[in-house]
Amino acid sequence: MKQSLTILLFLLPTISISLCEPLDPKQVKALQSLNIPTTKDPCSQPSLVCDTSTPLRHLTTLQLSNCTSPHLSLSFAALKSLSTLHTLLLLNCPFTSTASPTHFPSQLASTLRSLTSVNSLRNISAVSLSHLRNLTHLTLSNLTIKASAPYVLFSHISNLQTLTISHANLAGSLPKHIHSPNLTYIDLSSNNLRGNIPSSITMLDTLQVLILSSNQLKGEIPYSIGDLISLKNLSLDSNSFSGSLPDSLSAIPGLVHLDLSSNQLNGTIPAFISQMSNLKHLNLANNLLRGVLPFNSTFIDKLQVFKVGGNGNLCYNRSVLSSKLKLDIAPCDKFGRPVSPPPSKQKRSSADDSSSDGDYDEGDYDDGGATVSHKKEHHHGPNKLVLGVAIALSSMVFLVVFLILCSKCCR
Ligand SMILES: *[C@@H]1O[C@H](CO)[C@@H](O)[C@H](O)[C@H]1NC(C)=O
Ligand SMILES: *[C@@H]1O[C@H](CO)[C@@H](O)[C@H](O)[C@H]1NC(C)=O
Ligand SMILES: *[C@@H]1O[C@H](CO)[C@@H](O)[C@H](O)[C@H]1NC(C)=O
Ligand SMILES: *[C@@H]1O[C@H](CO)[C@@H](O)[C@H](O)[C@H]1NC(C)=O
Ligand SMILES: *[C@@H]1O[C@H](CO)[C@@H](O)[C@H](O)[C@H]1NC(C)=O
Ligand SMILES: *[C@@H]1O[C@H](CO)[C@@H](O)[C@H](O)[C@H]1NC(C)=O
Ligand SMILES: *[C@@H]1O[C@H](CO)[C@@H](O)[C@H](O)[C@H]1NC(C)=O
Repeated sequence: MKQSLTILLFLLPTISISLCEPLDPKQVKALQSLNIPTTKDPCSQPSLVCDTSTPLRHLTTLQLSNCTSPHLSLSFAALKSLSTLHTLLLLNCPFTSTASPTHFPSQLASTLRSLTSVNSLRNISAVSLSHLRNLTHLTLSNLTIKASAPYVLFSHISNLQTLTISHANLAGSLPKHIHSPNLTYIDLSSNNLRGNIPSSITMLDTLQVLILSSNQLKGEIPYSIGDLISLKNLSLDSNSFSGSLPDSLSAIPGLVHLDLSSNQLNGTIPAFISQMSNLKHLNLANNLLRGVLPFNSTFIDKLQVFKVGGNGNLCYNRSVLSSKLKLDIAPCDKFGRPVSPPPSKQKRSSADDSSSDGDYDEGDYDDGGATVSHKKEHHHGPNKLVLGVAIALSSMVFLVVFLILCSKCCR
């Protein structure tokens, strides 16, 4: 205790001295090229963090957001003099890149730990990203990544903890082998990813968030997804996944957010979902799911978001759930199928007379009047007799009237 206090007392003057050291002039120049005012002590600005080295201080963090300058550019020379940065964050600073795509000098590439560009850099090559080998946090959005395939990204950045690449035109398939032992967060939403989720996804057992929304992924959701036991958020919506919901999902105890909407998932909704006690957001809308919804209102009320609409063959049990819940699906009949929605007015009225005799089958319904009238003749023999008698009687009456008239005329 005493010892640490003396160390602190010894350090304090050095810290305060180093706080007065000037910023490396090369870095001052780089800041000026980015239209960052440097008249006052640049290190005192909230968007910058400097180290305490002597005789010159160096930048460790640079944050630029909501830039208003019209022709901002991030030159290679500027990046080179900013090679002491650990954190580079660019938010809504649209750069007119002179050197395109953006390329990172090797010194910066090994120093950088966290890189964020949202609606700022225009394009980056995947190879250039793969050189950022000490990176732990990468967030890129609203730019173009020039990549032969995403595996280039994963193959070298093995220290990654969080990875977000969205709205980046990222094409290709997910890598078969992702070896990032500390990865907890993946968001690759709104790209052009194709193919399946490889079953080797199970290697990412530290993963807490997996967001692959709005791509062109297909195939079944692999059974091994259940090995991602740390998952809290699984968003696979707006792809072309098919097959049924894997039972292995029941092995993920901490799932909070499950969005599988807008795919072609089929089969029934497994009842185990109602046992997932941490679930807050469940979206299964717009799929091909069928059968009776296996949930009661205790479960549904507990959720913040619950969506199952847009599954034509899914229905809810009227004795379990109230129609007040507005689930956007039909109630079930006694066979567990949706009660058919009332057909349109015209079709019903034209078909009503023919089917009212209870001898209704689908074929007649479709063929319309012709089949129906044919069927009537066939089934209603006695009616023909009545008609015949009626015709005979009326012609007799006509004949009598004619004869009477005739006899009057001839007189
Ligand atoms: C940037 O602008 C957005 C809204 O346009 C605002 O929410 C945000 O706080 C701003 N950020 C900074 C650092 O000024
Ligand atoms: C970056 O990582 C390499 C190992 O890949 C290591 O040798 C180097 O010291 C790291 N650089 C920095 C600045 O942390
Ligand atoms: C993973 O994280 C641990 C603890 O934060 C660290 O010691 C280890 O070096 C990291 N491994 C890799 C490959 O980054
Ligand atoms: C899960 O991911 C979605 C995006 O798909 C996001 O909107 C939501 O906030 C995330 N929820 C949690 C708990 O991480
Ligand atoms: C569900 O989808 C899979 C894959 O598309 C298909 O093989 C299977 O026959 C479908 N099952 C049903 C009941 O429609
Ligand atoms: C609702 O379903 C859950 C899970 O299946 C069950 O534990 C609970 O007892 C049910 N509640 C009612 C009121 O039926
Ligand atoms: C609806 O629920 C009731 C009461 O739990 C049950 O007896 C009935 O079989 C269920 N109907 C269907 C179609 O599942």
